[in-house]
Amino acid sequence: MDFKEYVIDKISAVTELPKEQVKNAVEIPPDEKMGDLAFPCFPLAKVMRKAPPLIAKDLAEKLKDDAVFERVEQAGGYLNFFFNKGEFIKETVDAVIKSNGNWGRSDIGSGKTVLLDYSSPNIAKPFHIGHLFSTALGNSLAKIYKYLGYDVQSLNHIGDWGTQFGKLICAYHRWGDAEVIDKDPINELLKIYVKFHDEAKKNPELEDEAREYFKKLEDGDSEATALWQHFRDISLREFKRVYDMLGVEFDSYNGEAFYSDKMQEVVDILREKNLLVESEGAKVVDLSDMNIPPCIILKSDGATIYATRDIAAALYRHRTYNFDKNIYVVGTPQALHFKQIFAVMERAGWEWSKGCEHVGFGLVKLPGKSMSTRNGDVVFLEDVLNEAIEKTRAVIEENDTVKENRDEVAKKIGIGAILYTFLKNSREKDIIFSWDTMLDFEGESAPYCQYSYARGRSILRRAEGIDYKNADLSNITDADAYSLVKQLGAFDNAILSAANKNEPFYINRYVTDLAKLFNKFYNTNPILKDDVDDETKRARLKIVDATCSVIKSALMLLGIETVESM
Ligand code: ARG
Repeated sequence: MDFKEYVIDKISAVTELPKEQVKNAVEIPPDEKMGDLAFPCFPLAKVMRKAPPLIAKDLAEKLKDDAVFERVEQAGGYLNFFFNKGEFIKETVDAVIKSNGNWGRSDIGSGKTVLLDYSSPNIAKPFHIGHLFSTALGNSLAKIYKYLGYDVQSLNHIGDWGTQFGKLICAYHRWGDAEVIDKDPINELLKIYVKFHDEAKKNPELEDEAREYFKKLEDGDSEATALWQHFRDISLREFKRVYDMLGVEFDSYNGEAFYSDKMQEVVDILREKNLLVESEGAKVVDLSDMNIPPCIILKSDGATIYATRDIAAALYRHRTYNFDKNIYVVGTPQALHFKQIFAVMERAGWEWSKGCEHVGFGLVKLPGKSMSTRNGDVVFLEDVLNEAIEKTRAVIEENDTVKENRDEVAKKIGIGAILYTFLKNSREKDIIFSWDTMLDFEGESAPYCQYSYARGRSILRRAEGIDYKNADLSNITDADAYSLVKQLGAFDNAILSAANKNEPFYINRYVTDLAKLFNKFYNTNPILKDDVDDETKRARLKIVDATCSVIKSALMLLGIETVESM
């Protein structure tokens, strides 16, 4: 039984208000002392011509004999519901166990398509930790939307087109060594790309040469195309290694190049709608009446840019997927870019563009290290991941509690620690990367949540042979058990908030609190001790089982794996 639904039904029956209205009004009180749910009676005062406290008092009187409630109280204009603890625990834990690892799953998204554009690193340009932030967020959002029944498409809009390819080809011809690049493509391509910038400062003609090469590429020159293809292939191979480590998968790797032949149509449409104006030789869409700087569509040399490719991509996505939402998980420094392209699409009269949304995130700061991308002092994703795994491995060696599969455990914990860090705060906040906080097994961290899960699983393993699945929990009324089970009941709320705001941190917060409540519960409720009677033992084991399954689902939604012992 869903207690919230039950309360809504009851209120709606006695007040004759429509259920929807009651549902929107019912609140979770800020303090447990005010009950488990509250109904504010203020909006009723007008219709009923009565003071809210009197209304609340009347309603409390009418509902007080219901066995589902321990009591129903009037406090000011509020009607506060206190659930019958035993009933609540029993019903909720039974429902969690029955869901079989699918607690909180729903089908509200069924029939709707959500596109998530995330990670989207660039070839030739530095590929940095900001892309890892995008990957962590996008991957989690993909899992959240899927859990809610949406059809989700994960799109990796690789930066594989643009003038930097001219620079790269130019640099390659001058300083490139095929063998060296093949061995370590990302570093080596970056090296020659950085060298290009250094050299071009002294010798500006290089810029012209690079433009020539890009022109060749745009015209389909076979040598330039073959090089481009090669750079793309070897870079993608490297990116995929990182994605494998993270357990991230994409449905499409169509990058900017994919849209290079789809831009003329956009230019034609905008021209036809009289939206293109001339500005210093370039063709732009004027957005001054919306207080937005003009969006450049064609540069003065006729070349298209990032924005044009994004507009072509949005149109293509609309036609291909007929999306309900098209979400771009990209750092907040690009907020203006998205504002501009969304405005252009609105101008073009594309109704569907209302489904486009920029989901921004803050900067990642590494203590003591600059994150600048031009001078080559870049921190690479793979190095960061490997460092996390190595550090975890060292902790595991020291603790000596993990006996088997140390490599696998270190990997799941190390990677989990990183993902957790990105999803710990509201996404627009900047992040300071600190190994100590990330790998603090007792703080707010992935290892802490993973440890709580492993601890629960170890209790269940030790209880092998005890049949607890049918245990009756109606006699469990302990306060810590109650707080823990209440948290289990709140999972769907956390998932919905995360999806509504595109903020996985709601789930991060949720699972961290759940782990804390679980720790408190098993510290005050001994489980396998000899002096615990069988009935209580079975009931507590059932709560442990339900909790483990919800911790696992919640971590899964963050992209974090669990381990059975640590
Ligand atoms: N490649 C871009 C960058 O690294 C991000 C692309 C985001 N996606 C998009 N459709 N614009 O800054």
